[in-house]
Amino acid sequence: MTNKIQIAIDGPAGAGKSTIAKIVAEALGYTYIDTGAMYRAVTYKALKRNIKLNDAKALEEMLLGTSIELKPSENGQLVYVDGEDVSQLIRSNEVTNNVSQVSAHPNIRKILVNMQKDLASSGGIVMDGRDIGTQVLKEAQLKIFMSASVEERAKRRLLDNESRGILSDIETLKKEITKRDKLDSEREASPLIQADDAIYLDTTNLSIIEAADVILKLARDKME
Ligand code: CDP
Ligand code: CDP
Repeated sequence: MTNKIQIAIDGPAGAGKSTIAKIVAEALGYTYIDTGAMYRAVTYKALKRNIKLNDAKALEEMLLGTSIELKPSENGQLVYVDGEDVSQLIRSNEVTNNVSQVSAHPNIRKILVNMQKDLASSGGIVMDGRDIGTQVLKEAQLKIFMSASVEERAKRRLLDNESRGILSDIETLKKEITKRDKLDSEREASPLIQADDAIYLDTTNLSIIEAADVILKLARDKME
């Protein structure tokens, strides 16, 4: 019997974190948790309620009265807000382009980070986000900082959007991704940075399977 470990995957938008984390979790029989979906869920509800995204107090009150549930399914992780399946709704352009403003509030991060720590307490876990290696799972046995060129990440988003019927163009996506990365990396509360003990993985020229294999090999080495 091998030891169950915690795997933390951080990095900028479109690096391949969630796709690859899901494959790694499946291969190991671990639970996968997409923490970005939680920040998206808060943003979705705030936009729906017309709450000002710079009003930290109002956002906190809203979040304290909100139920956010993550449920695994055959099609990946489903996200429920107050019992409603919002898995697709939280991927809209409107949510994507506003989420960094919400995730910059320290009080919102504190609540979600506590929820994420609780979710991870049950053992074998693969969690992806921006601050997993630096804040949420500081003791994770394996930390990956995943990235790819901005051109490649924008291309991936374009294909992603196309498959969801969302029209976009590469130049706009490049600008949006660069802006979100900047906001996420420059915020004061738990900015996106590589943990000292994280391994850097550039997926620009790697297929999904190749990147998953790199992580699985590193994970199995840690389990021995
Ligand atoms: O999948 P994508 O890279 O588009 O983003 P995501 O993982 O769904 O995260 C959406 C946003 O949530 C990020 O741009 C961050 O602003 C925020 N986030 C965060 O601050 N901390 C995390 N652990 C995860 C996401
Ligand atoms: O979670 P994150 O924002 O880092 O990226 P993602 O949502 O997992 O990946 C964005 C898109 O890039 C997805 O459609 C993946 O299938 C694709 N991808 C790829 O084509 N090649 C890779 N090596 C990694 C991801």
